[in-house]
Amino acid sequence: MLEHFENRPGLYADLTFGAGGHSLALSNIPGAQVLSFDQDPDALKNGYQLIKDKKIDNITLVDSNFENFELHAEEFLKKHNSDGFIGALMDLGVSSHHFDEALRGFSFRHEAPLDMRMNPRSGKSVAEILNEFDEEDIANIIWEYGEEKLSRKIARVIAHERKTAPIETTTQLAELIRGCYPAAKRFGKIHPATKTFQALRIAVNRELDVLSDTLPRVASKLVMNGRFAVISFHSLEDRLAKIIFKDFESREELPLYKTSKKPILPSPREIFENSRSRSAKMRLLERIPYKREKNKYAHLANKE
Ligand SMILES: C[S@@+](CC[C@H](N)C(=O)[O-])C[C@H]1O[C@@H](n2cnc3c(N)ncnc32)[C@H](O)[C@@H]1O
Repeated sequence: MLEHFENRPGLYADLTFGAGGHSLALSNIPGAQVLSFDQDPDALKNGYQLIKDKKIDNITLVDSNFENFELHAEEFLKKHNSDGFIGALMDLGVSSHHFDEALRGFSFRHEAPLDMRMNPRSGKSVAEILNEFDEEDIANIIWEYGEEKLSRKIARVIAHERKTAPIETTTQLAELIRGCYPAAKRFGKIHPATKTFQALRIAVNRELDVLSDTLPRVASKLVMNGRFAVISFHSLEDRLAKIIFKDFESREELPLYKTSKKPILPSPREIFENSRSRSAKMRLLERIPYKREKNKYAHLANKE
């Protein structure tokens, strides 16, 4: 999906460093300087080591939530004496590392403390939310971020259970949720806890709030013909990117933007090389010099 950046020299921002695949690819563009973000201590530790081992001198990796984009971007732009970025990229969500690392509590398949924070140094863990929040607030989280039809019942069972013993582990929660489902649906292909776990992960990491605050900040730091790509893995994130990019496209004041009409899907080759990309959708925003279709007098231009 990086072919959309067309290998132009300039400044790039990778807001989700992860294992560094995208940052590394961007750093190979001749004349590129890359500002990368991650908030996960493991991703950062591996990232700093990777940059050192590969002797890469054009990636600046910062330990920060990307909601602090403006602060770091200002410093980076000043250092490189530039007005903005030619390319910016978000590859949202958690990395496969999070699911593989049982102790982080992202997966209901491994027994672990219920945490799910990408940055365990700040905010509340899932266990704290489930043991401290009102039943109604828990139900709203599960409904809004997981679109789980049984949200009220699941919240009721959690509130009842925690009176006896706190909800502390992934498998404890997964089994409670399974018990809320009708017997015929408890052991299907998709685990009954899937939607609730997604909802709780989104809530503890404030994923949608951070995303909606940051998308406009990044968009407003693009240089002319600069592009911003957002890759998402669930419909709530994709919907947000779609709406915010449409808003940018429909504005009349400068700078002007255009966005992709439909989400861009991965090619069969990308899916073959990385099976995780199967459910990815990409939205693209580009800063443009003028809006041709808005110029209603264009057809008169060659007439006297
Ligand atoms: C899907 S992975 C990115 C994979 C990456 N593109 C690669 O090539 O390896 C997402 C990464 O972004 C990080 N992340 C997600 N939301 C973030 C946020 N709000 N601020 C900073 N990092 C974030 C996660 O910790 C994770 O390491």
